[in-house]
Amino acid sequence: MHTLPQLPYDYAALEPSIDAATMEIHHLKHHQAYIDKLNAAITGKANLEAMSLEDLVKGVNSLSDDVKMAVRNHAGGHFNHSLFWLMMKPAGGGEPTGNLATAIATTFTDFVTFRQKFTEAAANRFGSGWAWLIVTADKKLAVTSTPNQDNPLMTGVAEIEGTPILGLDVWEHAYYLKYQNRRPEYIEAFWSIINWPQVEDNFKKATS
Ligand SMILES: [Fe+2]
Repeated sequence: MHTLPQLPYDYAALEPSIDAATMEIHHLKHHQAYIDKLNAAITGKANLEAMSLEDLVKGVNSLSDDVKMAVRNHAGGHFNHSLFWLMMKPAGGGEPTGNLATAIATTFTDFVTFRQKFTEAAANRFGSGWAWLIVTADKKLAVTSTPNQDNPLMTGVAEIEGTPILGLDVWEHAYYLKYQNRRPEYIEAFWSIINWPQVEDNFKKATS
């Protein structure tokens, strides 16, 4: 059975970028709902019950048709949100350092250009979905986005496949209480709470 992970900070800790009410509902209601529906979809199917969340996400396209869409949406939702909470922290923001800073400069020219590209991916994702910074199979950085609860790890599903090291939830449930229809303001605020040490760690694991 999959269970809801604790947040490493209080619901109010990301204020004013993300308000406490949004964080509480997003975590306790939305994230929990993905977990409940994932558990409902796999209960009684021993092979799926035995798989890790990451393996369910990676291999979703090879699952049988009766569970494929439920796992895609709900294992995707559980996995994406579990990553997302850790990619933010109180008093975060700034810029990455070390090898990730070097890789960003190599791939995107500089941090400002990368930030612009990621912001565009988040702003231009039509409807619900995610913006991502990923490490591709050839260990290169790329910015991409996915609809709904898809993830770049989903083989044969994602437009650009790779390992996500930074992600931003642009579903309306992530920002509507505070920002209403103003998604660009929410995206702007996200840059103040990014947990770059965590993203650098994700980069290290994805490139090792
Ligand atoms: Fe969400």
